[in-house]
Amino acid sequence: MAKNIGILTSGGDCPGLNAAIRGIGRAAQDYFKMNVIGFRDGFRGLVQDRTLTLDSGLLSGILTLGGTILGTSRDKPHRMPIGDKEMDMTSAIVETYKRHNLDCLVCIGGGGTQKNALRLKKSDLNIITLPKTIDNDIAKTDITIGFNTALGIATEAIDRLHSTATSHHRIIVVEVMGHRAGWLALGAGLAGGADVVLIPEIPYDIEKVAKAIRNRTHAGKRFSIVTVAEGSMSIDDSKRIGRLLREKEESGKKSEKARISRKLEEFHQSHVNHTLHLTRQLEELTGLESRLTILGHLQRGGTPSTVDRILATHLGTTCVALIEKEKYGVMLAVQNNKIIPVLLEEVAGMKKLVLNDDPWLESARHVGTVFGD
Ligand code: F6P
Repeated sequence: MAKNIGILTSGGDCPGLNAAIRGIGRAAQDYFKMNVIGFRDGFRGLVQDRTLTLDSGLLSGILTLGGTILGTSRDKPHRMPIGDKEMDMTSAIVETYKRHNLDCLVCIGGGGTQKNALRLKKSDLNIITLPKTIDNDIAKTDITIGFNTALGIATEAIDRLHSTATSHHRIIVVEVMGHRAGWLALGAGLAGGADVVLIPEIPYDIEKVAKAIRNRTHAGKRFSIVTVAEGSMSIDDSKRIGRLLREKEESGKKSEKARISRKLEEFHQSHVNHTLHLTRQLEELTGLESRLTILGHLQRGGTPSTVDRILATHLGTTCVALIEKEKYGVMLAVQNNKIIPVLLEEVAGMKKLVLNDDPWLESARHVGTVFGD
């Protein structure tokens, strides 16, 4: 009997999702003779049984297309907004899975998706996930779909900002995505030759950053490029957050936990303008005119790079080969240039952060990049 596969994309979009959908769809239908159905808008589409028939016409021409033809959402199966409530819709998902007689559901997504996929695995569904996020912060995999493209976009932006920074003798602060992990800022900073790179993993001292820029001025360099991951924090802010998180963990009372959660939320809301504040601080401390560029969702849009097309296609086809062998409950990871299955239990809830001995970090320090620590 031909196997039936369902596919969904979940979480923030990125370039390469369509290449993965095409890889799965083509390999499944044309090579392994399986049936494939797409679910729209992440886990919500599964709850509502909204599908898309992934026939050869629809799969044609999407390899180079950004975004996802399936649509995506950040909805979680166990806490799905329904009207003005959040409800556990896991049983509706299980029903849809059974209604379509699925042999496997492929979830293409980031960190949140890995956790949701594990929950569905625990509800006895056959699941395989593919890792995607421009943040590149999924545990157990060297790289995720979307990262290489975003890295190229951020690097090109830094290259372009160099010439205008030089002409005007300015500091240009460029904010890239990455709430918890600094891979994009570090990689683009390394590739683009940023003078300062600030990442969430290394809390910074603004005085040290300003001093590094003043030293450049004394050495005759009249501009500086500061690449900042959106989740970067000063040492003081990082201590404050650390304290709040500890208090929340240690507190036994529900009301106290809720109070601390509100404080954390307030902090994150106010942190949105953090890079603008940082730019102004640097202008004040160095006396150099400063400008801020926020790359934002530009980094998630447009056509995938060559590397992402190959990666997404390879992950997609390997996934179908695994379904053929009936090996489920795993995420396909890239380790040392090989694709290997890793148990969802080993990935869900974990994050791959930039560690102190990371070779990229070391290399950046060796070429004089300042991290403000
Ligand atoms: O996909 C991850 C990510 O790109 C983060 O770096 C960023 O903070 C977040 O998504 C923003 O996503 P959205 O605006 O779509 O919620």
